[in-house]
Amino acid sequence: MIEVVVKRLSREAEGVLGVELVRADGGALPSFEAGAHVDVALAHGLMRQYSLCNDPVETHRYCLGVGLATPSRGGSHHVHETLREGDRLAVSPPRTLFALAREGAAHRFIAGGIGITPILSMIRACERAGARWSLDYAVRSRERAAYLGFLSTFGARVRLHVDDEGTRPQPQAWLDGIDAHEHVYCCGPAAMMDAVAQAAEARGVARERVHFERFAAPPAAASEAPHGDAPPASFTVVLARSGQRCTVEADESILTCLERHGHALPHACREGLCGSCETPLIEGAAEHRDFVLDEAERAANRRLMICVSRSRTPELVLDL
Ligand code: FES
Repeated sequence: MIEVVVKRLSREAEGVLGVELVRADGGALPSFEAGAHVDVALAHGLMRQYSLCNDPVETHRYCLGVGLATPSRGGSHHVHETLREGDRLAVSPPRTLFALAREGAAHRFIAGGIGITPILSMIRACERAGARWSLDYAVRSRERAAYLGFLSTFGARVRLHVDDEGTRPQPQAWLDGIDAHEHVYCCGPAAMMDAVAQAAEARGVARERVHFERFAAPPAAASEAPHGDAPPASFTVVLARSGQRCTVEADESILTCLERHGHALPHACREGLCGSCETPLIEGAAEHRDFVLDEAERAANRRLMICVSRSRTPELVLDL
């Protein structure tokens, strides 16, 4: 983790706090890719993931936009109510799970509410590269629309949809005129992302050209058995380097099981969202329950997120 200091707090909109972080020792921060996020260690052991919204070429600061969640699970409430300029925090190096497609000739961004944050760094990267882009940005009210000052400089490329002004989200229409070289990036409430996924499928947009960033797992996700046969209630994980065998009970994750056996492993969200617990898989078939791997990566069966994923076989051999 990297020790940082809160240099500046700014009110970006109703319920959205801008947080500018600089390295505590005054040095440069690790560079990041547009769309990346960091894990932020807050008080009382809370660990939260926030997208970096500043220009990816900047190494002197990380800028976050933190929406006050209602209800808050503790993280956003702490940031909004307790965090002060000058406070020290620890952040992970940036991780990119929501990246601009290198082959994308044009980029169509769709953001809902605080989902605008990763899109901001992507827009900055597109501007730098001279890439074609547009944004549909849906908010509940104009007061809640963060970063409008920046976005308003791009004229008709940014289309704002304000709920309480009568412009309801219309994911079908947002994909009008999409061409075969365009990529779609969506970050926002789960219902919006589901609607965009359906709209893209209905228009025949290839799955690999549609990218999502999730801030929270759908409530039912952890208990679902997504495909085919029900997974075994409990199974064995084998740690290849030591040969240790551990039984993962039906009501615990692989991560929790290994912690119970005294192993301290990297993790942050425990919801299959952040990628920090990714573990190489040597043998066995994983039942993937995360939101990190795409379909090809799942099918390759070479790694899994041990905070949520389980096993389709009696045994999984992990490269640990
Ligand atoms: S801890 Fe975040 S994906 Fe597992």
